[in-house]
Amino acid sequence: MDKLFNKYYDRLMQPLETKIFGRIRKQLLSKAKGKVLEIGSGTGINFLYYEFADQVIAIEPDPMMLEQSLIKAREATVPIEVVPGDAQKLPYPTNSFDSIVGTLVLCTIPDPAKALAEIHRVCKPEGTILIFEHVRLNHLVLGKIQDWLTPVWKRLCVGCHLNRNTLETVEQAGFRVVQTTSMCRELFLVIEARIK
Ligand SMILES: C[S@@+](CC[C@H](N)C(=O)[O-])C[C@H]1O[C@@H](n2cnc3c(N)ncnc32)[C@H](O)[C@@H]1O
Repeated sequence: MDKLFNKYYDRLMQPLETKIFGRIRKQLLSKAKGKVLEIGSGTGINFLYYEFADQVIAIEPDPMMLEQSLIKAREATVPIEVVPGDAQKLPYPTNSFDSIVGTLVLCTIPDPAKALAEIHRVCKPEGTILIFEHVRLNHLVLGKIQDWLTPVWKRLCVGCHLNRNTLETVEQAGFRVVQTTSMCRELFLVIEARIK
């Protein structure tokens, strides 16, 4: 199942990308500047949207996704280096990136608080983090349905949780949230946050 999901990820996502995600990615990634780290870059779906970054380092733990992303990295307009890696243990010095990007990834990383602590460490003091996620709905019934579906969903979609409260986790990691935008009745959230 994991292999199929990873192999056909772009095709599965295509309708959502065309209808809604593409626009969100374009707007969010236009804010990625200087030296950029992207965590869990998957098939490199974001790469074509980087316009103002000087350099992007993209880490991705899944070899099949990483392989697909190498083609997109070559087609990008900014230099992109894709490397295997785990956001929970970043192999970079403290204060090394101007912007850190994570899209649809904090839902999947086993310990998002650990990943955010690492992001906090490697982000420069004046740096920005740019996040786009689906999150748990603040609705008595719908939130419970997401809790109920998550164990099955996780198995189908390679560890993806439907019920994470990502905004809270970002705040608890010590970031200052400067902007949030929600879409689709608050199912999707775009977060821009800073260290201070
Ligand atoms: C749903 S995909 C999203 C891919 C891409 N970021 C996007 O926006 O379409 C989730 C991604 O998280 C990655 N991932 C899972 N665990 C991770 C970890 N510990 N560190 C970094 N990335 C991880 C997966 O390999 C996969 O590429």
